[in-house]
Amino acid sequence: MREYDLIADWYPTDRGRTVGVAEALAVAATLPDRSRILDVGCGNGVPITEALVNAGHCVVGLDSSAEMLALFRSNLPDTPVVRADARRCPFANGSFDAAISWGMLFHLARGDQAAAFASVSRVLKPSAPFLFTGAEIDGGDDAGITGTMNGVAFPYYAVPSYRTLTAEHGLVLVDVHDDPGVSTYYLTRKPA
Ligand SMILES: C[S@@+](CC[C@H](N)C(=O)[O-])C[C@H]1O[C@@H](n2cnc3c(N)ncnc32)[C@H](O)[C@@H]1O
Repeated sequence: MREYDLIADWYPTDRGRTVGVAEALAVAATLPDRSRILDVGCGNGVPITEALVNAGHCVVGLDSSAEMLALFRSNLPDTPVVRADARRCPFANGSFDAAISWGMLFHLARGDQAAAFASVSRVLKPSAPFLFTGAEIDGGDDAGITGTMNGVAFPYYAVPSYRTLTAEHGLVLVDVHDDPGVSTYYLTRKPA
């Protein structure tokens, strides 16, 4: 999404350096060393991609914002990253041991989130975990809301049930963890 190009320099001044790291590392700790992990909507790579790399994994970043990716390449020059849309991950089937997406899916309308789940599921190996943040509103509509970051308007969408939406697109919900006022984390897994 183009909006992140407009706030790429401001974003790291607002984003904490710890949020999401423990959750991402907890998933990574269940994987063998040097596992291939896709960071979907990686942004500038700090702190989550960086933490996964430092934990000994082979991380690939994916993001649609050219400006965020320029910062990523500066922050993590040895880590591969691609400019792409999460709805169309440009990787071979079954090529990742895990995927993580912090702070991205809620910008996509329900149908686009569904496309992203299908795309991420396709590139995961059987049994691979996918940890993401999102928002659920039971009985909510598809209209979404608008929020602002540093004066730039961003769309936000909740879905009625991630258990249902992910199941329809190749992933099984295995855990939900709410960090009040911060994020809700959904841990899914591709079936074996
Ligand atoms: C809130 S930032 C989170 C960045 C990073 N994951 C973090 O934890 O700081 C959301 C990121 O998702 C990216 N993004 C939004 N929609 C996308 C899409 N459809 N495909 C790929 N990246 C997307 C944005 O460019 C932005 O870098």
